[in-house]
Amino acid sequence: ATNRTFTMIKPGAVKNGHLGAILEHINAGGFKIVSMKYTKLSAEKAGEFYAVHKERPFYGELVEFMSSGPIVAAVLEKENAVAEFRTLIGATNPADAAEGTIRKKFATSIGENAVHGSDSDENAEIESQFHFAGTEIFV
Ligand code: CMP
Repeated sequence: ATNRTFTMIKPGAVKNGHLGAILEHINAGGFKIVSMKYTKLSAEKAGEFYAVHKERPFYGELVEFMSSGPIVAAVLEKENAVAEFRTLIGATNPADAAEGTIRKKFATSIGENAVHGSDSDENAEIESQFHFAGTEIFV
């Protein structure tokens, strides 16, 4: 079925000038952008977004990085969106990411890995609602 995923283009990728190229990848991958904003997360908001990772050793670093500069948040629509988008972006660690994926091309490390992609339909919905009001989503 056609469904949705949520993505953030992370501060490192924005800072390094890869925003346009990443959006082109998303477009070429057949995703429809149904919501998008250029924004910046406070440390508090970043901590809240990644609260599931609170006990992980990299949590502090993750929160600091994700609040270090502007990001693009977007809701994407495609058939089988969550899995399709995870294929497009590649493995979390760019060292393991397949050739041609967004992370292979633009990520510099496991922490600064260019983009976020939801890991389930349920989380896609939660993460979309975290960033967007229903009136900001255009089908
Ligand atoms: P993301 O898909 O945004 O979801 C959680 C993030 O935690 C993940 O991408 C990585 O950027 C980050 N992360 C996961 N493992 C590590 C790690 N070992 N060290 C630093 N950051 C990590």
